[in-house]
Amino acid sequence: MPCHSPSLLRKGVQAAKMKHYEVEILDAKTKDKLCFLDKVEPNATIGEIKSMFHKSHPQFYPARQSIRLDPKGKSLKDEEVLQHLPVGTTATFYFRDLGAQISWVTVFLTEYTGPLVIYLLFYFRVPFIYAPKYDFTTSKHWVVHLACMCHSFHYVKRLLETLFVHRFSHGTMPLRNIFKNCTYYWGFAAWMAYYINHPLYTPPIYGEQQIRLALIIFLFCQFGNFSIHIALRNLRPPGSKTRKIPYPTKNPFTWIFLLVSCPNYTYELGSWLGFTLMTQCLPVAFFTLVGFIQMTVWAKGKHRSYLKEFRDYPPLRSPILPFVL
Ligand SMILES: NC(=O)c1ccc[n+]([C@@H]2O[C@H](COP(=O)([O-])OP(=O)(O)OC[C@H]3O[C@@H](n4cnc5c(N)ncnc54)[C@H](OP(=O)(O)O)[C@@H]3O)[C@@H](O)[C@H]2O)c1
Repeated sequence: MPCHSPSLLRKGVQAAKMKHYEVEILDAKTKDKLCFLDKVEPNATIGEIKSMFHKSHPQFYPARQSIRLDPKGKSLKDEEVLQHLPVGTTATFYFRDLGAQISWVTVFLTEYTGPLVIYLLFYFRVPFIYAPKYDFTTSKHWVVHLACMCHSFHYVKRLLETLFVHRFSHGTMPLRNIFKNCTYYWGFAAWMAYYINHPLYTPPIYGEQQIRLALIIFLFCQFGNFSIHIALRNLRPPGSKTRKIPYPTKNPFTWIFLLVSCPNYTYELGSWLGFTLMTQCLPVAFFTLVGFIQMTVWAKGKHRSYLKEFRDYPPLRSPILPFVL
């Protein structure tokens, strides 16, 4: 179905003198022609082309669209400009539907509110979790109360950071991811909380000394993680999607940027190691391990992108663990 671009045509006299493009959009799977756009300005962005496509296909709002140069290739970024792409004046793009989308903020809020509430249900020993005689009783071990404070602090911090600190570059993610992510966070929170708050829970073997050390590690890493999030936020002016090389700031917690590309993950790992030491609980150790594996995969990907994007990227940095990984 042909669709036109009146807004782009009004962009100015200079642009009117330029040679316009014809853009055809094919289905990446079937190769059927979905849309033909004529007189598209050379400086039109992929974001603008998505908006034009949306007009003729209202069910595919821009965040749902993946526009590619090759049916199996990478999605083009919204900021990419038509005349800078390797296409002729008749450009062919391929479209894939990314499925229903949900905002990142909603995703994070759902993911993080779950563990917070679930943990507290176990902490307060609401009925139907442990034997009825334990309903609404409290643990006699002070480490159980401390662990609850630390766990809650961690997720409240994450919620507040999601709302007030992070400047995300993508507005949305596929709706189906939320089920996967919530199963992960909510499931682990329930499993850990069940054992830590269990009436038969036994405190750490080295007692108070072990708990104090664990608390110091936990708090140190929480503050470190927060410092990195602030440093990353300050790299990106409000409303932009700029990515820069992060460098150490005046805050000593950020000096780890000298050696690591994703120190927020390093500190996150440290926090969970601290929590494992504090609770001496196997499910917590398992959650720490799985989180570490996942964050290592992400950190390696981000490290690779930094190397690809910035020629002057500091060579001493490792993805997540200094000199090791
Ligand atoms: N326990 C676990 O299993 C686990 C797993 C994952 C995350 N987490 C926690 O959740 C936090 C957030 O995770 P995340 O994966 O979203 O972290 P992230 O990718 O490092 O991003 C944090 C924020 O900084 C921005 N950012 C990153 N690098 C940037 C750069 N070079 N220039 C400008 N802005 C940049 C990101 O924007 P973009 O939107 O552009 O990415 C995002 O808004 C982590 O730090 C960690 O504390 C925990």
